[in-house]
Amino acid sequence: MDSANLDQIIDRHRGKPGDLIHVLMEIQHENHWLPRDSLHHVAEALEIPFSRVLRIATLYKTFSLTPKGRNEVHVCNGISCHLRGAKKVMEAVERVTGLKAGETDANWRFTLETGSCLGSCSVGPEVIVNGTHHARMTPAKVEAVLKEYP
Ligand code: FES
Repeated sequence: MDSANLDQIIDRHRGKPGDLIHVLMEIQHENHWLPRDSLHHVAEALEIPFSRVLRIATLYKTFSLTPKGRNEVHVCNGISCHLRGAKKVMEAVERVTGLKAGETDANWRFTLETGSCLGSCSVGPEVIVNGTHHARMTPAKVEAVLKEYP
């Protein structure tokens, strides 16, 4: 992200309550991650210590300090989803994306994550793509879902 784009984002939030977190959220949304040089730029522009910017950037799970794909796929591996077939759903996601958990493809299309309960046990297996919940996933259903995300 270039400094002109950063400055536009900063200027939209400067001086308002929660300006730092709103700036970081907008950078994360547009760029899909928070590059370290962007964090330095934000610290200088808002005249706050870099250590404080870094602390906020690492505090919230919504922020990433490593590059992410355009589409973030989270497959639940909690016990309830596991009992309902999450392993086969995960295998289908791995096959379609060519990724293992924690990886991002070379074209920045997908980042694949897995984790414990996503809070929708009764309708598992659960997959979240870019914040949208997809319930009762099967290998065939998840393949169709992933095709919707270019
Ligand atoms: S175990 Fe998967 S949503 Fe709860």
